[in-house]
Amino acid sequence: MFTLSLLILILFHTVGAATTPPKNATFPAIIVFGDSIVDPGNNNYIITLAKCDFSPYGRDFEGGKPTGRFSNGKLATDLLAEAYGVKELLPAYLDPNLQIEDLLTGVSFASGGSGYDPLTAKLETALPLSDQLDMFRSYLSKLKSAVGEEKTSAIMSKSLFIVFSGSNDIAQTYNLIRRAQYDIESYTDLTVSFALSFLQELYGLGARKVGVFSAPPIGCVPSQRTIRGGIERKCSQKENQAAILFNSKISSKVDALSKQFPDFRIVYLDVFNPLLSLIKNPARYGFEVVNKGCCGTGNIEVSLLCNRLEDAITCTDASKYIFWDSFHPTEKAYKIIASQIVQKHTKGSFTSAKLNAVVDVEPTISVFLACFLTLDVESIVIKIFYALGDSILDPGNNNYIATIVKCNFSPYGRDLKGRRKGRFSNGKIPADFVAEYYGVKELVPPYLDPSLQLQDLLTGVSFASGASGYDPLTSKLASALSPSDQLELFKGYISKVKSAVGEEKTAAIVSKSLCLISSGSDDIANNYELLPFRRAHYDDEAYANLTASYASVFIKELVKLGVRKIGVFSAPPIGCVPSQRTLGGGIDRECSQKANNLAKLFNSKLSSQIDGLSKEFPDSRIVYLDVYNPLLSLIKNPAKNGFEVVNKGCCGTGVIEVSVLCNKLEEAKTCKNASNHIFWDSYHPTEKAYKILTSQLINKYSSRLL
Ligand SMILES: *[C@@H]1O[C@H](CO)[C@@H](O)[C@H](O)[C@H]1NC(C)=O
Ligand SMILES: *[C@@H]1O[C@H](CO)[C@@H](O)[C@H](O)[C@H]1NC(C)=O
Ligand SMILES: *[C@@H]1O[C@H](CO)[C@@H](O)[C@H](O)[C@H]1NC(C)=O
Repeated sequence: MFTLSLLILILFHTVGAATTPPKNATFPAIIVFGDSIVDPGNNNYIITLAKCDFSPYGRDFEGGKPTGRFSNGKLATDLLAEAYGVKELLPAYLDPNLQIEDLLTGVSFASGGSGYDPLTAKLETALPLSDQLDMFRSYLSKLKSAVGEEKTSAIMSKSLFIVFSGSNDIAQTYNLIRRAQYDIESYTDLTVSFALSFLQELYGLGARKVGVFSAPPIGCVPSQRTIRGGIERKCSQKENQAAILFNSKISSKVDALSKQFPDFRIVYLDVFNPLLSLIKNPARYGFEVVNKGCCGTGNIEVSLLCNRLEDAITCTDASKYIFWDSFHPTEKAYKIIASQIVQKHTKGSFTSAKLNAVVDVEPTISVFLACFLTLDVESIVIKIFYALGDSILDPGNNNYIATIVKCNFSPYGRDLKGRRKGRFSNGKIPADFVAEYYGVKELVPPYLDPSLQLQDLLTGVSFASGASGYDPLTSKLASALSPSDQLELFKGYISKVKSAVGEEKTAAIVSKSLCLISSGSDDIANNYELLPFRRAHYDDEAYANLTASYASVFIKELVKLGVRKIGVFSAPPIGCVPSQRTLGGGIDRECSQKANNLAKLFNSKLSSQIDGLSKEFPDSRIVYLDVYNPLLSLIKNPAKNGFEVVNKGCCGTGVIEVSVLCNKLEEAKTCKNASNHIFWDSYHPTEKAYKILTSQLINKYSSRLL
């Protein structure tokens, strides 16, 4: 049996390899480079957060299968391959199941999150175009060994190459990083020069028919409307103008290339105007919703944010939507655009120099949009200590990322006398006290500090990021490191330690380490209470369920990575922090009962999730750490510990200042001696309050954790 099927397999492959493309095929193969618009799943096989190989992605694909395509169904490149008679689906090159006949009719090398600017792929750990070209080179040698050199170059010279990139450069990289060095004029020059050298290399490798897509109207994708479109979520004109500028430059470079090499059929394909016209005249195509994606709230969810937990609020009929998630079009929108291209350019049209294709373009995933998530995890082994989570445990990771939630300036750290900046307090934070108590070290460094040495890593670090939360949307809104970002960092940490001390020792270290997680308060205070996105779809209990489910997913991931001792902070009495008193406590600035009730509701869901997890993982110690009651009792009985002020922070007026609002200019008003205050700023306790709380926690839970 085995031999027979093997024989059939071999025969089949041989036949496949010899088969010429269907009679009406315009091109022997279609080869694709670029970003998530044209990535059919390469990102499934690399380490990146820009993935979508899970439900509800692929919901309308054959078998409802999430293939890694950033849509509910097929991509425009699949539809083009079908229409041009090449094949029904254009596969991802990294798919290990590909056979030689799949290769012969074309593949996609695209990777969601990449751009012309190499920095773009770096930000998303996607495959940059240089990697995609390397993959193309190894593809060529596979083809050569299967069908010979001559036939390979014949196939290449007749195949259609599609390049779709540039939107992530504008939407992500420029806005987050490059803006500090470049204005938009010089940045578009830079990206176009990267594009030009990529296209020249492609020509050098034998491509002769190339369609280069324009950037889409990026300012009109749902997430850009949310972030930059004001209260009415209009298209962001700034992003659209940047796309237009980029397009004018790339189209003239493409023209120049086609003149430079007469045998190079290279064509600029405008998708900006076709997509904009779809957005402006939705009814003509039966669309009802243009400014939101189908997935989740539709305002912000993409990639990891668009997942099963959002199913309840995901739309049921994606064909009424232009956008599937907050960045990527639906299959239906892709279909309309692909068929517009095919109508305009039937057989052989890529041999004509003028081609006005219409393709929908969306920027890829942006892991770095903006988030208010707080996730604090600290890990302590008698020798090692890690922290993950939010500002309660962040010793300065936010110094190194593009967020406004920072505090690496005076008067923060006033009582640390300049040692290590970035803690959200006047002095040490709980991470430090825990590490100190167990004799690990005095100050826990932020993992992102570039000056860390191996010894620092081996005694533990913090991955926490101020303003993050369990709900990924919270981190996104604040541009903080989300739980999944922190997990990725933790994975990077593990591989660094492995290369230093070996696999076995690393596993032992990780399994003995104590990991502390503190998160959830920013979900309540900065997301659910403050902003409409979640409240529109969840009531109090449903939101508590959602965040607790996210917490559980996060903890499971840590267990998967080998962590065995995990302490999870409850939410604090968030309604009693000075800013919540100011915002929700009425004229007397009482504790906001609403916020406290949300915290209690969340805590009850969190603790029952944790009970479930400890049963599921009996060899782990996963412990719920109540900080709600200890902090409340501190607030109710301040004199017992020498506190005099409970309802205001030390910094500034004490009623609202936090992060950038608590700065040098406030120094005249800032209290002189923080040790009689429970709160340092309007959100975070003083070093003294942290010290009292941490020692209570250690006394109560140490034996259960270690
Ligand atoms: C090519 O043939 C297939 C199958 O016969 C057909 O579905 C498709 O429309 C044809 N394409 C063109 C461009 O003629
Ligand atoms: C929250 O979860 C609990 C337990 O799974 C469930 O009984 C309850 O119906 C959920 N509440 C809402 C509003 O979804
Ligand atoms: C602040 O007050 C505490 C207690 O009143 C005192 O022990 C401490 O020395 C004071 N610190 C400074 C810097 O004055």
